[in-house]
Amino acid sequence: MYVSMKEMLRRANEGNYAVMAINCFNLETARAVIMAAELEKAPIIIDIVQEHLLTHSDSELITPIVKTLANRASVEVALNFDHGEEYEYLKKAIEDGFSSVMVDASRFNLEGNILLTKKVVEFASKFNVSVEGEIGCMGASEGECFTVNSMYTDPKEAKKFVEETGIDALAISIGTSHGNYPDGMIPKFDFKRLKEIKEITKMPLVLHGGSGSGEYNIKKSVEYGINKINVGTDFLDACCESTKKQLGENPNINFFTLMHQVEKDSIEKVRYYIKLSKSTGKSI
Ligand code: 13P
Repeated sequence: MYVSMKEMLRRANEGNYAVMAINCFNLETARAVIMAAELEKAPIIIDIVQEHLLTHSDSELITPIVKTLANRASVEVALNFDHGEEYEYLKKAIEDGFSSVMVDASRFNLEGNILLTKKVVEFASKFNVSVEGEIGCMGASEGECFTVNSMYTDPKEAKKFVEETGIDALAISIGTSHGNYPDGMIPKFDFKRLKEIKEITKMPLVLHGGSGSGEYNIKKSVEYGINKINVGTDFLDACCESTKKQLGENPNINFFTLMHQVEKDSIEKVRYYIKLSKSTGKSI
């Protein structure tokens, strides 16, 4: 069933669990993620980042594919434009049928962030499309902010942002970073801040940069009010691992056989995260 994130995240907020959002970019990655969700009977979000939409599969191309897979599936599936930075691209994705978008305007000051996010909320509401906003800086893919304190979300700003924009979900920064961490490093999460943001906003909250966070951090984040967890790197790394393994075993492997097996192998990583997020059995 093809749905927006709104209702699945509302239930997650009420039921104190998180829905997994996995970065995909083509038919094979989306199908593997949806298959994992079906095996776990979990709601799921297909996240596609702006860069992949611009360089690999644009919204006209990918939307009908994900929509078809979703409507064939036995679980709720949302398609979310992840880290949409430009209004034009966000508008286009909505018009092309994305069921959800995330506005990444945290490069602006609070007023600028509110302005762009609110504009997208107004446009998206005509299409019944849910909107995720972001406040704070998540690090790595956003430049210098990796371990700097100022990247963390300020609870008072979060409250103002939520009230003024009318978003459906709020991405916050509590210590994660996009991409792989240096070897052996597990990020330190600011759970006190998370608790405070939850109490003050009562919103569905989103954790970006889920890869490499460690089981303890993920479980505790869910306990303290995270309702959507974004994972990209760990999923794509699982695809690479499968590729390397197969090429190691058979360097002359046929490309079709290789791709097909990668898709199958990557399902396990998604199931692992669905279990951690406590969304197993939560699809209606
Ligand atoms: P990771 O690649 O670190 O899991 O981050 C994914 C993400 O947050 C996409 O928005």
